Amino acid sequence: MAIDPKFIEELKNKNDIVDVVSRYCSLQPRGGSFWACCPLPGHSERTASFHVNQYGQFYKCFGCGRGGDAITFVMEMESLNYVEAVKLLAEKVNMTLPESFKEERRTSEDYRKKEILLSILRDSARFYVANLRSGRAEAHEAYIKKRGLEKETVTAFGIGASLDYNALPEYLKSKGYSYEDMVEAGVVSAREYDGRTEYSDFEAKRLIFPIISAMGDVIAFGGRVLEKTDFGKYKNTKETSLFVKNKTLYNINQIKKQKAAGPIKEIIMVEGYMDTISLFSAGFRNVVASMGTSLTKEQARLLKRYTENVLICYDGDFAGQAANIRGLEILKAEGLNVKVVSLPDGMDPDDVIRNMGAEGYRKCLDEAMPLIDFKLKIVKDKFFDGSAEGRRRYVAEAIKVISSSPSEAEREELLRNVSRETGITYQSLMRDMEKSPESRENAQEPIRQKTANRIVQAERFVLARALWSSKRPLKDVRSLDGLKFSDGYRVEIASYVRDLLSGGIEIKPSLLYDYMADDGREEAEEVLNLLETPVITEDTDDRFFDDCVRLIKTNALEEKLKELKARADEETDAATRAEVTREIAGTMAEIRKLQK
Ligand code: CTP
Ligand code: MN
Repeated sequence: MAIDPKFIEELKNKNDIVDVVSRYCSLQPRGGSFWACCPLPGHSERTASFHVNQYGQFYKCFGCGRGGDAITFVMEMESLNYVEAVKLLAEKVNMTLPESFKEERRTSEDYRKKEILLSILRDSARFYVANLRSGRAEAHEAYIKKRGLEKETVTAFGIGASLDYNALPEYLKSKGYSYEDMVEAGVVSAREYDGRTEYSDFEAKRLIFPIISAMGDVIAFGGRVLEKTDFGKYKNTKETSLFVKNKTLYNINQIKKQKAAGPIKEIIMVEGYMDTISLFSAGFRNVVASMGTSLTKEQARLLKRYTENVLICYDGDFAGQAANIRGLEILKAEGLNVKVVSLPDGMDPDDVIRNMGAEGYRKCLDEAMPLIDFKLKIVKDKFFDGSAEGRRRYVAEAIKVISSSPSEAEREELLRNVSRETGITYQSLMRDMEKSPESRENAQEPIRQKTANRIVQAERFVLARALWSSKRPLKDVRSLDGLKFSDGYRVEIASYVRDLLSGGIEIKPSLLYDYMADDGREEAEEVLNLLETPVITEDTDDRFFDDCVRLIKTNALEEKLKELKARADEETDAATRAEVTREIAGTMAEIRKLQK
């Protein structure tokens, strides 16, 4: 947590969310809460879908989906960062900022450190930009010219230049930073030499691309060598406390700005810095780069905050690489709609823009394929070579792919295509598909999915009800004890709630936002949204709560039962097996007890 939680709590107590929001729009009381046309930037509407909950001290717009507490509201309305928004709210109610907060806003050692590192990165970025403009960066300028970058583009991306090994550490030293902090920020490297330590610019002599977080902070650099080379042409800041490469997307800062102006229909995901920059300057501004690595869940979640639709546009040789398909599955698993943009062989997006222009690239985008079509194309290219054996392999692989589709209509259509291509009758393909193990697996998938969703909802509900308990106490404060939650963020929320409950501390739901760090806020919001449901707010008995608790417990026991049964099947030792069997009986008895 960034700032003293006591201070934040008092700040929020004094800044009632209804007062804060009322400064920006007129709220109408309705049904126990307040409503207005959404005042948030980028969303204009005629019917009120923006709603403020005074007890919970949070807001939620059912139109644009944004929600939060008094602080995030001010952040959005005034385009401030967290600290700035806190300052503004403190001024409004004449609260003095804590001493430590005023000078360098330090409260915790971590926070102070983070500020220093960010400041080093910011100063380094400025230093590199100044280098590029100094007239001394001839080689860099020539390179920029060769790659066709306009002046505005260079400015928009904060591109800079490192001229040598020593200037950066010297400059940073002159600004009062310690070498240890420079190294920790990742901009300077240390080397023992002749019994003393030498410090040098980590990106020495390279063309510099700052990597900027969604919050607008420079968190790392990518540096490119100017000479022609295929090996190690880029060097990124090593991972630091601020920069975790596979949780970051290049250009996400601009995406965030775009989202503030209105919904983003789709985002193009490319591999490289130059791809991003070329597309952006050619007018395709909704672009981010995964920076070479295969995609991660964190990157998918980051994207999901800004759009539902992703166009993957990797280099032309991308199709052959199975690892990339797994990356696409990750995006899909996070609930994004994925389409794949194919480029002419051997070209990356930057090449396409330069050789075929924005027009040419637009054509590629127009031909983007849904993920499943793309997978079919890959197996077709790989196996379907005109031979009888090739045909068999293709059909077998295609059936695997097609049976993964949850839509019957889609399965039918795709199967008909394969029938047309191969001359095998549709009926016979259909029979083969029904026999395939994938398809049997798939038939169970919707049921599994449904159960999973129910559990998630139950977990969220239980947490929301517990958050509400200062207003309407739980029958038993220990009802959360022993509950296992299926998601890391919910585990965190549960432990937060348990701590407060067991300490007899009054729970203010919106404080959950401060408790959960950046990534966890989304889950916090999901839970807080449930505070609106009548089963929580209205004074009914708590049957639904009990049901949810039971569901979570039963599910955990059933999972355990599954594992035990699998173990019993595999176990060869008779004594151990008897032991496992006893455990199975015990678990089943527990489940039955819960059902009563
Ligand atoms: N990358 C990296 N480290 C490397 C190579 C690549 O971090 N040694 C990342 C960079 O973000 C790079 C992206 O992977 O932009 C894609 O790499 P590649 O296709 O090899 O480079 P290009 O983006 O085509 O680079 P350029 O056009 O400048 O040659
Ligand atoms: Mn390239």
